[in-house]
Amino acid sequence: MLRRTFINLVLVLAMLLTLGASVVSAAPPAQEELTYTIKLGDTLWALGEKYLGSGTGWPALMAATNQKNIEDSTFAYIKNADLIHPGWKLSIPSQADAEAFLKIWDPGKPELLFGKRAGGQLVVGSWWTAGGEAEGLSGMFRIYKEKYPDVEIVNATVAGGAGTNFKAVLKTRLLGGDPPDTFQLHAGLEVEGYSPETYLAPLDDIYASEGLEKAFPKDLLTLLKYQDHYWGVPVNIHRSNVLWYNKAVFEANGLTPPANFDEFVTVAEALKAAGITPFVLGTKDGWEAGHIFEDILAGTLGAEKYNGLWTGATSWTGADVAQALGNFKMMLGYANPDHSAHTWDSAGEFLIAGTGGMMIMGDWTDGWFTSKGFKGYGWAPPPGTKGIFVALSDSFAMPKDAPNADNTRNWLKVCGSLEGQEAFNPQKGSICARTDCDPALFNAYLQSAMVDWGQDAIVASVAHGAAAYESWATDYKDVLTLFVASGDVAAAQAGFQQACVDAEICQ
Ligand code: GAL
Repeated sequence: MLRRTFINLVLVLAMLLTLGASVVSAAPPAQEELTYTIKLGDTLWALGEKYLGSGTGWPALMAATNQKNIEDSTFAYIKNADLIHPGWKLSIPSQADAEAFLKIWDPGKPELLFGKRAGGQLVVGSWWTAGGEAEGLSGMFRIYKEKYPDVEIVNATVAGGAGTNFKAVLKTRLLGGDPPDTFQLHAGLEVEGYSPETYLAPLDDIYASEGLEKAFPKDLLTLLKYQDHYWGVPVNIHRSNVLWYNKAVFEANGLTPPANFDEFVTVAEALKAAGITPFVLGTKDGWEAGHIFEDILAGTLGAEKYNGLWTGATSWTGADVAQALGNFKMMLGYANPDHSAHTWDSAGEFLIAGTGGMMIMGDWTDGWFTSKGFKGYGWAPPPGTKGIFVALSDSFAMPKDAPNADNTRNWLKVCGSLEGQEAFNPQKGSICARTDCDPALFNAYLQSAMVDWGQDAIVASVAHGAAAYESWATDYKDVLTLFVASGDVAAAQAGFQQACVDAEICQ
């Protein structure tokens, strides 16, 4: 609803600007600031129409109320424009104040909707809006708020798995010199895409003051260092290669999770015969096929050859990559036909409902299942990947122009701390980047991931920023989007090869 509201707002603003009209049309006579108590059935949109002449005035109402709340807590604090309650006290700004606000309002900058407490703001950019992700982030916010109650935390999320939409918004803000205070950044080569030397602050001093070089494993530190500096503080380790399955469905059909691609066919046929969609996926956001295929590559080529794909040691045009594409094509033959309409989490609903049997997705799915109260899921390495851990890590970075630099530095300290990571990871469905978290806080899946992280061959995820520069990772994902539609193995291999040449790794 709010998304629609944002879109409406943008369209209406664009129309008005084109017509050269003032921002708020059909303005009622200028009026003074008012106090209003919400009644059953009110919406901010309707109140905007009533008092400001247009529903598009709702952000002015929200901002004015939140600012008032800081001075006088009898006014409401509106976190989400769609969630307002009867009895809440609102501040309706004067027409002139509303117009002034709407002139600067930008839906990409939610911090404008929130006031500034004595300690200023902390604007946190991420794409964590799904169940599990959102709760994990709130856990870290809670720790921060306990320490810095005077700071207004603004949760500047942009929905879309793997940062599909967030990254574009962030780039615009960085380039415009108007960034959030901190933002989600995958550990690894993704940082190159943000020109860190120009736009980001190196975090070496925070690593030193917080003893972070001792807190994280060596391989992770290596992945985090780019051009001799640390640019992000990691909050977790995620595993890309997990095959999730519905335990009741598997039990009812006498099945065990497939360890290799031949077994996958056997299991998928049995599920199909039982009227269950064997393999569920969503491809709506353009990254999911790239995610699944990195796990198939690792399962088909093995760890060493998989690593070689990103260094030029393994050819993209060889028979084993063709085999991996063949395996993917086989799996797609068992997939839900409407996958292009689904995101990773909406595809997961099939598994919860028991109408789908298996799904390959990262272990944020564990956090998501947990947030949905679903306990009937099992997990296993996807075919061929036993003993391989396809890894990625989320970190938080600091733009050079971060408006609230001190608050950001304190945030990054919370991100790297034991209490921050223990508040975040059990809900997020990831394990700590730190090595000293208490395993007893984590569920059975995450405890198994901790064991595997300690003993498996670790390889880097490309779909989530670790293995390759952003431009190469994007080309790789685009090749797979075409492949899912066409099934053309030769064309996909040619596309991969070209992407590797463009990345200046292949000749
Ligand atoms: C990944 C990210 C995870 C999770 C996932 C789905 O890129 O690292 O933390 O959020 O996207 O959105």
